[in-house]
Amino acid sequence: MKNNMPPNWQPPAPAWQALWNDKEDLRVAYFAAQSKTPELLDAWQKRMLVIDPIPLPVGPLMVERGHFVDAAGQENFLLITYWRESHYQNWWSTAKNSWYQFADSSSLGVWRETMRLPHEHFETLLSSPDAHGLASSGDDVEGPILEHGYPGGMRDRIEYCALSDVRGGSVPRAEANENDDVVRVLAPANLCMIRSGQDWGFCDDEQADDYLSNVHPVLQKGMNYLRDRGEECGCYSMRLVDVLDEHWKVTKQTFGLGYAKDIFVFEDWAKSHPTHLDIFGKFMVMAEKYGESLQLQLWHEVAVCPDDGGEFEYIQCHDKTGILPFVSRV
Ligand code: HEM
Repeated sequence: MKNNMPPNWQPPAPAWQALWNDKEDLRVAYFAAQSKTPELLDAWQKRMLVIDPIPLPVGPLMVERGHFVDAAGQENFLLITYWRESHYQNWWSTAKNSWYQFADSSSLGVWRETMRLPHEHFETLLSSPDAHGLASSGDDVEGPILEHGYPGGMRDRIEYCALSDVRGGSVPRAEANENDDVVRVLAPANLCMIRSGQDWGFCDDEQADDYLSNVHPVLQKGMNYLRDRGEECGCYSMRLVDVLDEHWKVTKQTFGLGYAKDIFVFEDWAKSHPTHLDIFGKFMVMAEKYGESLQLQLWHEVAVCPDDGGEFEYIQCHDKTGILPFVSRV
């Protein structure tokens, strides 16, 4: 598990990871609408996720919301849902009809990106014991842990990376319907998904100003680089998303949601690309200034897609949506 850890390693800062007692596969499913307002997506969500027909114990473990502007300048509202795999499959067998009705009736571009998450295929990393994202659905957090803070720490935390060759993946294959307005993509094994979050909601005014003036702008540059020039390094898609509350109002959180050919794409970008080095450098200035009183919380979750574990589908969406620019049509 610790193939990449330098000898006698002591991490420069503490970090935690989530724990689950039950090892049933999890599932992440993103549902989104390309729209200037969230109303229609919200109405679908209230029907399908919050009220009927799901009695709560078999509903999603968590639902979050976000908004971003994509590479084509199009606004997107999205629901981020985490599930136990069996609950997701039960729910989707009925919910899918309503999803396609929603797509038909709204004439909006809508998309969903979903991945099965066996426990040995993903990791979580938190800069404090406060869980975020998928980690919030865990039973506990453990830490401070040793396996982080060095290149390849991410792979050391994903068991599957020690069991199999996770370098390279085949090109995602896509099937379209006759009108070419429904494109379904089977995500290939080893495709890597990252959700990397920033939460300045716990910061006092001084630290929030510092973060927003000095770190956030370079984060935007890095995310725009991966979004617009991802083909240079194997990144298929990147979105810098504002987290919204349950009323679709902006919060003090963002996250980068990205997909790449394999986990090495993100590892190499983090280790050596000037944009992540700049993000890291600006963050270190803050970390050194505030020391143990630093209130900014960072976290991420990274998954390596299992064989036949990912399904992405784009309906009436423009060509730059998600991983569409990188798929091969069959
Ligand atoms: C304010 C924003 C960010 C800051 C301050 C930041 C800082 C850091 C730090 C301190 C680490 C080392 C973590 C550890 O192992 O303890 C790290 C690792 C990493 N970061 Fe970032 N990061 C930010 C945003 C992002 C984003 C948005 C992405 C990609 C979407 C990203 C990708 C990565 C990856 C892949 C690693 C892991 C490298 C490895 O373990 O091999 N980071 N980052």
